[in-house]
Parts: sequence; C-alpha cells; structure tokens
Amino acid sequence: MNGNKSTLVIVFLMVTIGVSLVSYLLFNHVSRATHETSGDLPQLTSSEWTQKSLDPAILHRGGTQFKLRCSRCHGYNGEGGHMAPALRDSSALKTKGDTNAMVSIIWYGMPEAGMPGWGHRLLPADIVALTVYIKSLQEESKP
Ligand code: HEC
Repeated sequence: MNGNKSTLVIVFLMVTIGVSLVSYLLFNHVSRATHETSGDLPQLTSSEWTQKSLDPAILHRGGTQFKLRCSRCHGYNGEGGHMAPALRDSSALKTKGDTNAMVSIIWYGMPEAGMPGWGHRLLPADIVALTVYIKSLQEESKP
C-alpha cells in the first residue's frame, strides 16, 4: 500500500516537472522569436540601397513607420523638433547621408544622446524601409 503510494507521488512529480520543462522551453523559444532582435543589422551595398529606393512599397512602408515612431522627435516630415535634429539636410548630420551609418544608428540608437535604438523592436525590413525613406527626404531637399 505505502510503496504504491510513493510510486504514484514520484510519477506525479516527474510528469509535473516534465510538463513545466517543456512549456518553459517552448515559451522561452516563442518569446525569443517575438521580443528579441529578429535578425542582424542590415548592411547593404550602394546598388542594393538604390534598388530599394526605387521600390514605392518600401518607401511607403518607411514613411508610415516614420510617422508612427519617429515624427514625435524628428518632426512629421523630418524637419526636426525640440527633441531631435532635422534629418533632411544630410550635410548637417553625423551620418552625412551614409545609408549604412544611418541604418546602424536607427538599429542601435544613441541612448546617451536621446536617440532610442529600434533593432529589438522593429523588423529588419522596417528599419531598412525607414532608412530608404530618410534618404529620400535628403535627396528631395538637396539644393
Ligand atoms: C525620443 C526622441 C527620438 C525618437 C523617437 C527618434 N529619434 Fe532619432 N534621434 C534623436 C536624437 C536626440 C538624435 C541626435 C543624437 C545626436 O546626434 O546627438 C537622433 C538622431 C538620429 C539619426 C542620426 C542623425 C545623424 O546625425 O546622422 C537618425 C538617422 C535618426 N535619429 C533616425 C530616427 C528614426 C528612423 C526614428 C524612428 C524609428 C527615430 N530617429 C526616432 C531622438 C529621437
């Protein structure tokens, strides 16, 4: 009688531990996939950037993301605000219109300067689209 009971308790414990372990592993996997950086920092060649800049869907995606996430600091059309510099005149900026430098700043941010990093919050394709959009603003406002 007593022996049977302890076997039952052991089996019960093992099943409980097993189920917790499996759900922990599953949950961990899912949360990794959705909350952490979903890829590596995109670094493209200049012809790849040019190709993307000619795709109206990418430009539109970048513009939409910009208005949603960046305009409160950088202005609705990248004209700048009291929180952050204008992004339209590349000559006045650190990145000087270098697309790979811009994509890197958008990805990692400059936390000490008040520019948040977006690499762990947005899809790599969104960050590329944002860069294409900002580049288009800079081209548009060149004298
Ligand atoms: C909370 C305010 C804030 C938000 C939101 C924000 N930025 Fe910034 N950003 C800054 C500040 C401040 C700087 C300037 C940092 C410096 O140069 O010292 C900056 C700098 C930059 C630069 C580099 C400019 C240079 O000098 O070359 C880029 C590119 C940029 N931001 C893009 C974005 C994009 C794209 C988004 C939206 C996804 C965004 N920012 C959202 C505050 C912000």
